[in-house]
Amino acid sequence: MALLEISNLQVRYKTKRGQVRAVDGISFQVEEGQNVGLIGESGCGKTTVVKSVLRLLPRTAENEGIVSFEGRDLLTLERSELDKIRWKGIALVPQSAMNALNPVIRIGDQIVEAIQAHEPTTRKSARERAAELFELVGLDEQRLNEHPHQFSGGMKQRAVIAMALALDPKLVIADEPTTGLDVLVQDQILRQIEEIHRRLNVSVLFVTHDIGIVAETCQRIAVMYAGKIAEYADARPLFERPYHPYTLGLMKAYPSVRGSKRELVSIPGSPPDLVVRFSGCGFAPRCPFARDICHQEAPEMVETESGNWAACHRVGDMDQLRKEAGKAVTWTQMAANQL
Ligand SMILES: Nc1ncnc2c1ncn2[C@@H]1O[C@H](COP(=O)(O)OP(=O)(O)O)[C@@H](O)[C@H]1O
Ligand SMILES: [Mg+2]
Repeated sequence: MALLEISNLQVRYKTKRGQVRAVDGISFQVEEGQNVGLIGESGCGKTTVVKSVLRLLPRTAENEGIVSFEGRDLLTLERSELDKIRWKGIALVPQSAMNALNPVIRIGDQIVEAIQAHEPTTRKSARERAAELFELVGLDEQRLNEHPHQFSGGMKQRAVIAMALALDPKLVIADEPTTGLDVLVQDQILRQIEEIHRRLNVSVLFVTHDIGIVAETCQRIAVMYAGKIAEYADARPLFERPYHPYTLGLMKAYPSVRGSKRELVSIPGSPPDLVVRFSGCGFAPRCPFARDICHQEAPEMVETESGNWAACHRVGDMDQLRKEAGKAVTWTQMAANQL
């Protein structure tokens, strides 16, 4: 049994403009002890998936499907049962976590409060636990007495990660954990998360727009585009032999955090407005390899010979397309044609 299993999840927001189909039938799993990356550009539905898993969606949203954590469906679970799973089972490092700390309370006290809110324990032992957690994320214990404004962005992010680990969760969901930090600090935070993963055997669901981040930290990756999964594969085959043009585009568009410098080319255009219904592949308008069928019919998810799952009509031509996608001109020409 997977730790977290998402099956055919659909989430729609009601808005004045109409329904936003933010998540449109996605499925993926996180196995115990495994790190999984959920990647895609801004606006593809990633945070909506996260909020759906933790039942943090606003009232204007409705969802369908199954989100099973250790075999229990979180979407239908009673509130009191859900509260037991939050923090102890699944902990969240929310998007813009650095702003989530209370500015007027010492950081150590915030961690102590979080622990005591979820576990009957003395202040003294909660304080000891906070010190342990600080050590774990690479912060000096003395700093527990400081206020958030005395912390740099990277230190605040570490503190929020420490807080997420406070009740020893099995799964940490980290939504854009390094966005907004400079590259050097990003790298330090990622190393810290990797070490935590090894030491505590905690699974991490990394949610990020930056494909470079998941390359070394995750064993399995789900690439999300326009509310659907475009490609789903183990990290190695995904990076060595991607099977979706969107994955190829992302690789060309982002520098790797630790990798060598290479020529960067952005994918032309931007993700679609999810209020508008489209019949074909959501990526077709931006895809240099799209054919007529791509604009007409949504591609099914198929398993490839390397075990990747990809939803692309041209999956059989990918050996050739991969070569073309490696050339900057393939993407720049597409952009020029769109003007
Ligand atoms: N509360 C909301 N009401 C209406 N639409 C929303 C709301 N939150 C997000 N959306 C829309 O849902 C889509 C997916 O957003 P989000 O899940 O935040 O994507 P990501 O995290 O990948 O950037 C976007 O089109 C966004 O505008
Ligand atoms: Mg987001």
